Amino acid sequence: MIKKEVRKAVLPAAGLGTRFLPATKASPKEMLPIVDKPMIQYAVEEAERCGIKEFIVITGKNKRSIEDHFDSAMELEESLKKKGKNSLLNEVQRLDHLHFAYIRQRAPLGLGHAILCSKPFVKKEPFAVLLSDDIIDPDDNLFGEMLKCYRRYQSSVLALQRVPKETIHRYGAISGVEIRKNIFKINDLIEKPKPSQAPSNIAIIGRYILTPDIFHFLESVIPGKDGEIQLTDALKSLLKKLPIYGYLFEGRRYDAGDKVGFLEATVELALKNPEVKKPFREYLLSLKQRLNPR
Ligand code: G1P
Repeated sequence: MIKKEVRKAVLPAAGLGTRFLPATKASPKEMLPIVDKPMIQYAVEEAERCGIKEFIVITGKNKRSIEDHFDSAMELEESLKKKGKNSLLNEVQRLDHLHFAYIRQRAPLGLGHAILCSKPFVKKEPFAVLLSDDIIDPDDNLFGEMLKCYRRYQSSVLALQRVPKETIHRYGAISGVEIRKNIFKINDLIEKPKPSQAPSNIAIIGRYILTPDIFHFLESVIPGKDGEIQLTDALKSLLKKLPIYGYLFEGRRYDAGDKVGFLEATVELALKNPEVKKPFREYLLSLKQRLNPR
C-alpha cells in the first residue's frame, strides 16, 4: 500500500452561527475573536504546527472576511513597517506561507455535504477536517497524536472525548474497543443520540483525519438528523467496509460554539497570552474577591 501523508485540511465555515446572533448577523462566527485571534485561526495554527500547509475553507454567504483575514494586507503591512511595529508586522505575516482555497457551499445541507464540497480540491488524498468552534488548547498535541495514529493504521481517525452522559445528545457518539492506550477501534457511531440510546459517553469532537474513501459514502448517504447530510452517517457506512480508529483526547477542549464555552476559552486563553496574562489574572483575582468577599 502506498503510504500517503496528510497535507490538506478542510475547514467547514458555512454555518449561520445562529447561537451568536446578533453578533453573527453580518460577520462570520469563525471570525469572532478569542483574545486577539479569530476562532478559525486557532484551528489553522493547530494544523500548521503539524506541517499542514494547504487549507480548503468551505464558506457561504457573509464569509468574505475569512478570505481577507488570510490574505496579505499591503497597506496595513506598509504602515506597520514605516512605524517600526515589527512584532505586529510579524504577527500579521506569520501565516503567509500557507495556501488557502475557498469553496462556497450553496445550501446549508450539513457538515457531511460541506465536506463533500471539498472533493475536487482534496482529490484522492487523506485529509484533515477541523471544526473551528472546537478549540483545542494550543499546549496540547491532539492533532499530532491523531496523525501518529493515522500513520500507524492508514485508516480514518476521529478525535474522541468523554463527556457527561447528559450532554452526549449534542455530539456524534461511538462505541469501540480500546486497543492501545487512548486508541479505540470503532464498532459503531450514532449522530446526536438521546442519552438513553447512546452507545457510550464517548463523543466525537471536531477533529477528523479521513481517507478519501469517505467521499463515496457522502455521495450516497441519505439525509439524517435535522434533514442534513451527516458526516457521522457516512462514517457509519464506511465502517462496514473499512476500519475506523479514534484517539481519546484527555486535554482541554473548549466548545466555543456555545456562549459559555466561548467565554471559558476567552478567559483561559487570555491567562496564557504573554501580553495580557498578568493584568488579567490580577483582575480575575479581584473579581473573585468582589463576588465572594469573605
Ligand atoms: C458536528 C458533528 C458531531 C460532532 C460535533 C463535534 O456536530 O456532526 O458528530 O460530535 O460536530 O463538535 P455540530 O456541532 O456541527 O452540530
